[in-house]
This record gives sequence, C-alpha cells and structure tokens, in this order.
Amino acid sequence: MAEVTLKLSELTHGAPHRVIVGETPVVVVRIDDDVYAIGDTCSHANVSLSTGEVFCTEKEIECPQHGSVFSLVTGDPDTLPATQPVPVFDVTVEDDTVTIRSQDEVTS
Ligand code: FES
Repeated sequence: MAEVTLKLSELTHGAPHRVIVGETPVVVVRIDDDVYAIGDTCSHANVSLSTGEVFCTEKEIECPQHGSVFSLVTGDPDTLPATQPVPVFDVTVEDDTVTIRSQDEVTS
C-alpha cells in the first residue's frame, strides 16, 4: 500500500511539506493540530504547490506560478486560472504519527 508516515512534531504550523505517496507528489500542511494533504502539482501547469504560500485561516495554498488558490480541504481551486481540482489525500493522526494515503486506497 502506498502511504507515507510523518511525525506531527516535525511539521511546522503553516509550512508546506512535500512528500511522495506512491509515485504522486503531495503537499502536506499542518494548521494547529490538523493536517491536510493534497496533490502537489498544480492543475493548471506542472508547478509544485509546496513552494507556494499557505493561508492558515482560509485553509488554502497559493500556486506560486500564477496565483490560483487551492483549498487544502477539498482540493478545489478558489481562484483562476486553474479550474480543475487537485486530489485530496486521506490523513490520520495518532499521537505523533501522521499517515498520508490516497483516498482510492482507503475506499478500495
Ligand atoms: S501553474 Fe498554478 S496557477 Fe498556473
């Protein structure tokens, strides 16, 4: 099964972290004690969202290339030019262990 585990204590609040789940780049963001994980590749072009800015209050991340803002909760772009969502990954937190896995694998 493709999954990645991280330590919650090593994730900095509001800072994007890039990991690979299976073969897919994923951006992981901790906001307080919640952790979000979405596809790291912008749906507009081949740009890594993990180099963009996180907006903690809105739970969003901004693509550094053209400025589309993606929801860390739904993966949907809230602003143009991107119009397609990026995938959302399942996150579980148990004590200090954060597990990231694709939703396909969770439901299959
Ligand atoms: S590459 Fe992300 S908005 Fe254009």
